[in-house]
Amino acid sequence: VADLMLKRDARAELEALYRSRTPRSAEAMTRARRYMVRGLTRGWGYHRPYPLVAKRGEGPYLIDLDDNRYVDLANNGLSLIHGHAFPPVVEALRAAAGRGSGWLVPSEEQIEFAQMLCERIACFERVRFTNSGTESGMLAMKVARAATGRPAVLKSIDGFHGSFDDLEVGLYDRPEEPGRVYLAPFGDAEAFERKLAEHGDQIAAVVLEPLLFSGLVTKAPPGFLRRVQEAAQRAGALFVLDDCLMLRLAYGGSAKLYGLQPDLTFLGKFIGGGLPMGVLGGRAEVMDVLDPHREQPLYHGGSFNGNLLSSVTGRVSLEHFDAARIAAMDAGAGELRHALEQSAAELGLPLSTVAEGSIMGIYVTDSLARHDGNFMAGEATQLLHLAALTHGVFMGPGGEIALSSVVSGEALEHAREGLLRALADVARLTDNDQN
Ligand SMILES: Cc1ncc(COP(=O)(O)O)c(C=O)c1O
Repeated sequence: VADLMLKRDARAELEALYRSRTPRSAEAMTRARRYMVRGLTRGWGYHRPYPLVAKRGEGPYLIDLDDNRYVDLANNGLSLIHGHAFPPVVEALRAAAGRGSGWLVPSEEQIEFAQMLCERIACFERVRFTNSGTESGMLAMKVARAATGRPAVLKSIDGFHGSFDDLEVGLYDRPEEPGRVYLAPFGDAEAFERKLAEHGDQIAAVVLEPLLFSGLVTKAPPGFLRRVQEAAQRAGALFVLDDCLMLRLAYGGSAKLYGLQPDLTFLGKFIGGGLPMGVLGGRAEVMDVLDPHREQPLYHGGSFNGNLLSSVTGRVSLEHFDAARIAAMDAGAGELRHALEQSAAELGLPLSTVAEGSIMGIYVTDSLARHDGNFMAGEATQLLHLAALTHGVFMGPGGEIALSSVVSGEALEHAREGLLRALADVARLTDNDQN
């Protein structure tokens, strides 16, 4: 991958500055490494020399152990649509917590949330709750296999749908598994059609995220999603939409935005209002494979599925996620992108941005390419992230940026200023003599 030539000590300089601002995080991460692998409990969020250790979130800001404040443009991996400690969510959580956390039987709150989802998302006739996007994707595969009696799924190369074996094929250099998981390149409708023509009678489901977010934000060419949906349905396979992240793009989710009618859609991330929750929803006829009154129902357990607290926080958060907020987030992201592109041009720094609605990927390079089956960005983009931290902006370590509904006004201005300073740092650390 072509990368910008950086001064030899560029990283050392930024790491030294970062360390000088974050001694308490450094100390805590030293302890963390004794008990958790590399001090971590998940993949996303790690960066050298060590990630921050957080103390508190306040609306658009994240505060670390050294009391540094950052405008949060990553929001726990895009799982907080209204930023941190959103007052209506906190209030509802306080009111519910005294009544317990969950029961083996449904609650009024769970039923209300299910109703809200079915009324809001066009293709939802029935839902099941889970506890994460990964779990929802797993359940989608089980339901599709049970509903069609077919063993395989078709997904896109580089399509990330969580940490479930079948849906990790096509990532981390894992090749196609004939009879179980087939692959086609994202954006190439013909390749999807070919796979369906060859293996259609084995394929239970075609799974797509409407754009690729993890690794490198990648948009689909116009018409791609609809063509794949049609090809899937022609082959008798279910069309499954992963809307864990991109539900944020429109009031009714990305299916509404792109004119899709998926058979099943799965949700996660911000759908729980900041607490763990996932949802699988779809046509009643398909979801009914889970009906215990059937002769051979598909069994689906889950101790915390639709628990009281996540049902409450999910409902309140979604209630506040209206069309006006979506439009404001999209506009804020547009402003930020424009400012970044303009500043990079003035600095003579190659910057590629890929954006949709309130999300974008920003990469310090003029040649966009995936990075060898892992999610690490190029070195210059990693340094932009580190520099942004030293200027009070918390973006994803791989160049990911997503607005929450509370990043506006002063917070948006802080984000803009911090990112422009970070761009200037990277430009200063570029080795012009070698370019
Ligand atoms: C598109 C997409 N689907 C599914 C998942 C999995 O969600 P979770 O991390 O809640 O298991 C993610 C997580 O990053 C995701 O980005």
